[in-house]
Parts: sequence; structure tokens; C-alpha cells
Amino acid sequence: MNAPIRATNNLEAFWMPFTANRQFKANPRMFVAAKDMHYTTADGRQVLDGTAGLWCCNAGHGRPKITEAIQKQAAELDYAPAFQMGHPAAFELASRLVQLTPQGIDHVFFANSGSEAVDSALKIALAYHRARGEGQRFRLIGRERGYHGVGFGGISVGGIVSNRKMFGTLLTGVDHIRHTHDLSRNAFSRGLPEHGAEYAEDLERVIALHDPSTIAAVIIEPIAGSTGVLLPPKGYLERIRAICDKHGILLIFDEVITGFGRLGAPFAADYFGVTPDMMTVAKGITSGVIPMGAVFAKKEIYDAFMTGPEHLIELFHGYTYSANPVACAAALGTLDTYAEEGLLTRAADLASYWEDAVHSLKGLPHVIDIRNLGLIGAIELEPIAGQPTKRAFSAFLKAYEKGLLIRTTGDIIALSPPLIISKAQIDELVTTLGDVLKTLD
Ligand SMILES: Cc1ncc(COP(=O)(O)O)c(C=O)c1O
Repeated sequence: MNAPIRATNNLEAFWMPFTANRQFKANPRMFVAAKDMHYTTADGRQVLDGTAGLWCCNAGHGRPKITEAIQKQAAELDYAPAFQMGHPAAFELASRLVQLTPQGIDHVFFANSGSEAVDSALKIALAYHRARGEGQRFRLIGRERGYHGVGFGGISVGGIVSNRKMFGTLLTGVDHIRHTHDLSRNAFSRGLPEHGAEYAEDLERVIALHDPSTIAAVIIEPIAGSTGVLLPPKGYLERIRAICDKHGILLIFDEVITGFGRLGAPFAADYFGVTPDMMTVAKGITSGVIPMGAVFAKKEIYDAFMTGPEHLIELFHGYTYSANPVACAAALGTLDTYAEEGLLTRAADLASYWEDAVHSLKGLPHVIDIRNLGLIGAIELEPIAGQPTKRAFSAFLKAYEKGLLIRTTGDIIALSPPLIISKAQIDELVTTLGDVLKTLD
């Protein structure tokens, strides 16, 4: 690879997000190029991408259709005002997306990230009830250990303590149901855990506490990703859906990581056969190449706003870059790539190979659980006493040195490779990771 290697002369000014800045700046890890399944480091090494960037580069890297679409769009129409004006790529993209979404989910509101998609969905939920004359439904319910991005809405309904504790009072009127992680009963499950559907009943408890008539929406990730891959116990999502229906509460699936083929179906809603009222997506919508997020909503929700004088704006919400033309082009190029290569269902073909591969790490030092579904894997490590996160972070650093990109959260290693990964690359990933785990303190 002839990647240009640029000298970086000062690392100080950039305050890096979700990064141990001092550790990084003392020992920088720089990627300078990427193609298909590999990154190239500044010192010219190839690193196998075990995480699709940050769960986003589902089509792999440097894909020509996406690059060409971006180049063409930028040259033709770089920007059009997002409010009171339109451009064809936005309408084409929305129409293409709703062909992929579960039946009944047929409108798209564009944002620029998962966090914005979540905030948009929460606001739409509140405004929807108000538009229907049920403005007393102001409460939002999330779940412990949930991750819904970093906006105030997302951290309020989210349940990862370190993402919340520094930031004041957050949104009011929010509560959380319990998480579903249960190692005592479900450790080393292959695929969905057997035990724990009854944790959905915790939603009834929280609803009863506040009175159902005050609750606007429940938001959950079908698979909780950023907290370390927590899979829904068999039957759990169906029960959550039934409870929401019973009480007239909107159900929002945050599909920012599960969307666009991660489970071998376009969306987790398809995989589980459970249809929410709204879905939030980002990441895989452009294969990570250009920032974009979106809310997918049912027709009833959209229609509830389409009343009153026609010259009036129906929803006072949107972003300067909602449906940015270049982002739309990237998304269209991405959808073309997914369609041509069958990537939205490819994980289904690889799932059992992947499952066997990741579970082959059972028995290695400190491994207390292995989980998998579709092309997602997680290896939970016993934390070093008194030093949580250190063991997994050390695995991350060692894997990088050995030419493998993994992601860690707490003491959990999360794997989510691009959907183009080959079986030989799965073997390589697992062998390298196994070598790393054997050397951990
Ligand atoms: C489920 C979920 N929701 C929301 C987000 C936030 O997305 P973004 O980082 O694009 O704001 C993420 C990011 O990982 C996510 O996993």
C-alpha cells in the first residue's frame, strides 16, 4: 500500500473524544489509510478491522461506489438549504430506505449522527402525543446500561453511569428499567440467552409507578452494544412490545449499531420479528463514510403532524445538515454496495462460522463469558481487582500491536467486523485475539 505518511507535529490541540488523551498522546495510534478489511498505520502496518471502525463501516473501507457517489454529488450540488427547500437525492434516499424498513415504518427524518437521531426520536414522541391531545404523556423510559449517544436526551434515557454522572440533572421525567445481563444463568450462551424474558416485566413496574397515562415512549437498543454487547433474552423484546401496546406507549428501537445488516437482516426489528413505532439509525446508513443519522417512523406518527393550515411548519425541529446532499449520495452509494454484494443478509450466512470461531476462545485466561449474534461477538474478562477496565484496555493495545483492531468497554471486548469479512479473516481475527488473551496479566 502506498499510503501517504504525514508527519504530525503537535498532538496537543485536539481534545479527543471518548479517549484517554494523555495515554494516547504519549503513544499515538494513527491510521492513515484504509481499504476493504484493513487499516494502514502511520508506520506502514496493516491492521485487520475487527470493529468496522466504530460499528459503522459495514461495507468495509474505500468502497468505490461510495467514494464516486460522494465525489459526483459534491461537484454537482454541494449543499441545499435543509429547511423549506429540497434536493432529489434526499427524496430518493428516503424512498429507498423505506423499502428496506419493516412494513408500516415508512417515513424518514434525517439527522447527522446517532445522538441526533435519538434526540429527534424522543422529541417526535413527545410532540406526537401532544399533537394527538395527550400532552400529559411526557415521560421517557430507557434502560440501565443503555447507550443512546451523548446528547442530553440520549444520556438521560441512557444508562451508562460514566456517561451521565458528570452532567448535572439531565432531562426530567425519565426513568429506567433494569438491564438484562445475567451471567449467573446465561454465561457462554450461543446466540440469544435462554433466561431473562421476565426482565421485561420490570417495564410494568416502572409504568405502574408513574401511571401509564404519563408515559410517552420507551427507548431500547435491541442489542445493547456500547455497554458491552448485551443480547436480549429469548422472548424479551416481544414482551416489551406487548407491554407498550397495552398502555399506548411508543416503542423506539435504537438501531444505530444493529441497523444495516449486522444481524443478517436489514434491521434487528426484522431479525426479531418485533416492529417498533420508530427506529433510530446512523453509522451503517453511510457505512460510516459521511456523518448521517435518521429516525424511521410509522405513518400514524407522521400523519398526526399533518394537520392545520398548510403553510405552517408542522414540526419545529431539524438540522442545517439534515439530508445533506453529499451525505445522501454517500448513503445511496452505500445502499447500492449493500444490494450488489448482498451485505444486508451476509451476516446470516457467516453467523454460525462466526459463533464457532468466537466461542473457541472459551477457556483462555480471565474469560468469563462469550456472547454472539449475527456478526457481533463479545468476550467478557474478569476485571483486575481494584483496576476495572485495565485488563481489556491492555488487550486492545496488544491486539493493535499484533495487527488487529478490537474495541473494549469496561472489561468487555466487542467485535463487529465489516460485513465483507471472509472466513479466513475470521480465523485470523480469532487466532490473533487468542494470542493476545494468552498474554494478559
Ligand atoms: C445504540 C446507539 N445509539 C446512539 C449512538 C450514538 O451515535 P453517534 O456517536 O453517531 O452520535 C450509538 C453510538 O455508538 C449507539 O451505539
